[in-house]
Amino acid sequence: MPSQRKRLIAGNWKMNKTYTEAVVLAQDLSYKLKEDAVDDVEVVVCPPFVDLKGVQGVIEMDAAPYSLGAQNVYWEKSGAYTGEISCDMLLSCGCTYCIVGHSERRDYFGETDEDINKKIAALLGNNIIPISCCGESLEVREAGHQVEYVVNQIREDLDNIDLKSGEELVIAYEPIWAIGTGKTATPEDAQEVCGAIREILTELYSANIAGAVRILYGGSAKPENVAGFLACADVDGALVGGASLQADDFALMVKRSSH
Ligand code: PGA
Repeated sequence: MPSQRKRLIAGNWKMNKTYTEAVVLAQDLSYKLKEDAVDDVEVVVCPPFVDLKGVQGVIEMDAAPYSLGAQNVYWEKSGAYTGEISCDMLLSCGCTYCIVGHSERRDYFGETDEDINKKIAALLGNNIIPISCCGESLEVREAGHQVEYVVNQIREDLDNIDLKSGEELVIAYEPIWAIGTGKTATPEDAQEVCGAIREILTELYSANIAGAVRILYGGSAKPENVAGFLACADVDGALVGGASLQADDFALMVKRSSH
C-alpha cells in the first residue's frame, strides 16, 4: 500500500541570509513554487531567528505555498536566559515547525540528548512540530554501528515524550559525514537507518503512530539525488541545507519530490 504520509521538503538556511536577503529569497521561492504548483509535497523553510518575521510577512502578503520553521528553541517559557528564544516567540512569528538537535548544534554548541528531549517536550506542548535530527559520525559509520547509534539517539531524544499522533513529529536522519561535504549517503544507506527509526518508533509508540511520522533524509541532498532518496520506503522527504539557499534548486527539489 502506498504511504499516506505527505512528503516534506524542509530548507535549513543555517547562518545565512541577512534580513533583506531572506525576504528576497522568500519571495523568489514563493514565485517559483507557485509556478510549479506541486500540491502533494509540503514545503517548510527555516531561516535564522532574526529573519523569521520578514519571511512571515512574505508568506502572508504573497500567500506563499510554504510554512515557517525555526532552527532552534529554548525550553523555558520566559525569563533570564540571555540570547535564548522561547516557543511563544516562535509562535508570534508564525512558526509551525522547529529543527532541534542538528548535529552542528550538538557538535559546536554542546547540545545533549537531554537538552533535545526538553526542547521536543516544549515544542509539542506549544503545538509546534519538532524536526528532530539524528545521525552518526564517520567514525561510527566506519565501525558499522550507525543503526544502534541512531536508535539510541531516538530513544534518548524521545524519552518520556507522549505523542497523540504521528503527524506531531518529524525526524531527520542526517549522517554527519554527508552534511555540507558533497558526500551523500546512498539511498540504501538512508533506508537502512530510516527503516530502523520507524521500527523503534513502532516499539516506543504504535504501528499507527510510527506509520504517520515523517522521516527525512539530510546531508548534501540536491535536485540530482532527491528522487533516489524518496524512492525508499521509509524516506518521506529531505532536510536541505546548501541547496535551500537557491530558490531555483530548492523549487526543483520540491518538483522532483512530487509523485
Ligand atoms: P547540506 O545540509 O544539505 O548542506 O548537507 C543539510 C543539513 O545540515 O540540514
